[in-house]
Amino acid sequence: MARQPAGETGSLQIAPSILSADFAHLAAALAEVDPETDRVHLDVMDGHFVPNLTLGPAVVASIRGCSARYFECHLMLTDPGEYLEPFAKAGADGCLVHVEVGGTKELVAAARALGLSIGVAVSPETPIESVFPWLGLVDLVLVMTVHPGFGGQSFLADELDKVRAVRAELERRGLSVDVEVDGGIDHESARCAVEAGANVLVAGSAIFGAPSPRRAAAELRLAAAGARPVP
Ligand code: DX5
Ligand code: ZN
Repeated sequence: MARQPAGETGSLQIAPSILSADFAHLAAALAEVDPETDRVHLDVMDGHFVPNLTLGPAVVASIRGCSARYFECHLMLTDPGEYLEPFAKAGADGCLVHVEVGGTKELVAAARALGLSIGVAVSPETPIESVFPWLGLVDLVLVMTVHPGFGGQSFLADELDKVRAVRAELERRGLSVDVEVDGGIDHESARCAVEAGANVLVAGSAIFGAPSPRRAAAELRLAAAGARPVP
């Protein structure tokens, strides 16, 4: 039975991206942020869909036992269909596939057959309407707020128009689907993203680049909710 995110669908959720953690100490990084986060975001890159290489199912399997949180694998892969089963077997709870690679309907069906939650991701150069045909099939829409490939990039504020557009379309159709933003999320961009209609915030460097990642995650949640960060 796959795990669920700590927060309900539509609630404000914090998803630390371990891409910015110290890979020599991933178990400690997961334990550190666990109390203040809702899901773990794992960036999988193939050196083809994006110009970077990161981690695969073996790493997911290795760290699976270090956290009870929902694991979402953001598959920045040209051929994600080849890897849904290996990631499911490694202990992923959900996978996010890019609409740009095509075959979304088949990927959603394959993920469901494996018991995975499924989300569809859209890169900055892609119109948000490209995900509209799949809104009734997926659990989450991921709007990239940087060009995928690397942590630590600057937030692309223009992408908030996509967040507004997809949230409006979901409301128009009465669909309960999470809207996630990924890339350049800090206190200010988090607040803007939530105001635009996002409810799941991925953050790598803002959490793992901070002296206390746990505190940074807690403060990010407060900032996103429009509250003052704790002193
Ligand atoms: C970028 C990844 C992001 C990245 C976010 O391709 O999808 O998840 O790790 O890192 P920050 O929060 O540092 O922009
Ligand atoms: Zn990501």
